[in-house]
Amino acid sequence: MFLLVLGVAWPRGPARETAAEVSESDFSDTAAFLTRYWQLPIRADPAGRLNLAPESCGECHTAQYNQWSKSVHAHAMGPGVVGQLMGFSPKDAAACRLCHAPLDRQQSHTFDVKPPAPGRSPDQIWPVEEVQTQIYDSDTELPNPAYDTSLAKKAIVCAACHVRNGVVYGPPPLPDPAKPRQKSPHPIRYTSYFESAEFCRACHQFSPDNAINGKPLENTYEEWRHSSWGKQGVSCQKCHMPGRGHTWKGVHSSDQVRLALTIDFETNEQKDAISGRLRIVNSNAGHFFPTYVTPRIVASVELIDAQGRAVHGDRIEGVISREIILTSNERREIRDSRIAPGDTFSLPYRFAWSKLPDADLRRLDAVRVDVTVFPDHFYTGLFEALLDDELGSEALRMIRQAHRNSIESAYSAYSETRPARFGGPRAGD
Ligand code: HEC
Ligand code: HEC
Ligand code: HEC
Ligand code: HEC
Ligand code: HEC
Repeated sequence: MFLLVLGVAWPRGPARETAAEVSESDFSDTAAFLTRYWQLPIRADPAGRLNLAPESCGECHTAQYNQWSKSVHAHAMGPGVVGQLMGFSPKDAAACRLCHAPLDRQQSHTFDVKPPAPGRSPDQIWPVEEVQTQIYDSDTELPNPAYDTSLAKKAIVCAACHVRNGVVYGPPPLPDPAKPRQKSPHPIRYTSYFESAEFCRACHQFSPDNAINGKPLENTYEEWRHSSWGKQGVSCQKCHMPGRGHTWKGVHSSDQVRLALTIDFETNEQKDAISGRLRIVNSNAGHFFPTYVTPRIVASVELIDAQGRAVHGDRIEGVISREIILTSNERREIRDSRIAPGDTFSLPYRFAWSKLPDADLRRLDAVRVDVTVFPDHFYTGLFEALLDDELGSEALRMIRQAHRNSIESAYSAYSETRPARFGGPRAGD
């Protein structure tokens, strides 16, 4: 399933030449940043000078630690990922860890992976896929003597984004008169790439080689680049790390989703019907709403009685999602009804009185609109399919848990009722 796309099915890239020595400070341009900073698996601290446990960084950087520990990045090795990895070969599991737990010490095995070739344009550089290809081509596969299982569970740790070759990297400090600068106990370098969308690209953009219907499964950086946000240079961090916060709220957060949308619901009572339109504008997501193939948003309009129960009759539904089929013999897009940045999703409705029985007309009280978000819709189905496979007891426990979580993450992003009373008489009476 996911594996087929992220692993075995990758096209083989051109043979790589041996790259020049990597110098830590040399991110002279975006291509150098993408190949050198995002050289995977990440050699954060080969000499073992620093304590890479996030709790250790958190002793001094409390605010970042507290936010990070509640974020999606800290939970990227949750039961849905680990439960799957248990049944994978070391190569397949390594292909997933490049994004979900990318440090060298978080890898159970080592493979022949060469430094990436320099001298290409950024559009040709896919840090994750290039290394996946090398892992699959690797003749050696050895247990990693430096494997740190407790660090592996902590997923996308501070060091994944901040530490390379024993040096801590960060964004150029902002002047803060209230907080005098201190001398850091660790070596430190500043690069403005921390403030750019390219910083997030390695893990949040797949290469066009694996597109389905012309679009990669994860196309967030390109969607952003072509949007008005990208053109005006409003980075991912501006929306996902406001005030340099480490929260990364996305489709799992009702607050973040409400921020993304402008919703307008219109009703017109006529003699023979009630009709109108629900409009959902993607006014504040810097990419498609939603950007990924896993969430599903369901908008519905229905007639209800005074107790909020549905009145017999049609329920009008619109689905916002990119739905794909991804199995060993099929790769196909079924629908893409996501909302492009600035665009509008429109759901017109009309309930004709003549279609409703008298008893329902008497009960009728209001028309209700709901917008419900299922952030993990795709995974619910995937986990259900996995539960039918033969899993070990530990993997089974984890996939069951992940399945429950994927259902419980649903929430209502918008709900509104408007009075709708049948004033009679029926047309033709
Ligand atoms: C013993 C305390 C301590 C520990 C442990 C520590 N740091 Fe720092 N760090 C500092 C201090 C002090 C500075 C200097 C800036 C300041 O005044 O806050 C700093 C600066 C930074 C900066 C640059 C921000 C700036 O304003 O200059 C980053 C990024 C950073 N540390 C990340 C980390 C990471 C990641 C870890 C764990 C691998 C870590 N630190 C461990 C104390 C610490
Ligand atoms: C090392 C790879 C990596 C990097 C770098 C990275 N991410 Fe992520 N990100 C992930 C993974 C993996 C997940 C999914 C975690 C999970 O739910 O298991 C994720 C999830 C997210 C989400 C999803 C929230 C939701 O509700 O579903 C947001 C938003 C996000 N990242 C933003 C960013 C931004 C902004 C940056 C750049 C500053 C960034 N990420 C850098 C790997 C990465
Ligand atoms: C190129 C980076 C990348 C690779 C490689 C990758 N993922 Fe992810 N994964 C992500 C991102 C980003 C998300 C979050 C999607 C979102 O919410 O937008 C995610 C989300 C998930 C989730 C749902 C969240 C959760 O924690 O339950 C699962 C499960 C998952 N990935 C499993 C895998 C597996 C299994 C593999 C290997 C076959 C894999 N991923 C490889 C980037 C990656
Ligand atoms: C997914 C990548 C990612 C992870 C994981 C991450 N950071 Fe950051 N961090 C960033 C980015 C990007 C910025 C700069 C944001 C900006 O400029 O808007 C930053 C900024 C910082 C700063 C500077 C804050 C300031 O006000 O100048 C510190 C300190 C820091 N991070 C520490 C940490 C610590 C400690 C952890 C782990 C608990 C951590 N980070 C985890 C990406 C990350
Ligand atoms: C103008 C603000 C804005 C910018 C810029 C922006 N995002 Fe988002 N992002 C949002 C909002 C709001 C959501 C929640 C709605 C949604 O899911 O689309 C979101 C959701 C997400 C999600 C959750 C998964 C999903 O399917 O929607 C991910 C992952 C993500 N953003 C990554 C990124 C990355 C990477 C960038 C930069 C290339 C970026 N975002 C730029 C506002 C922004």
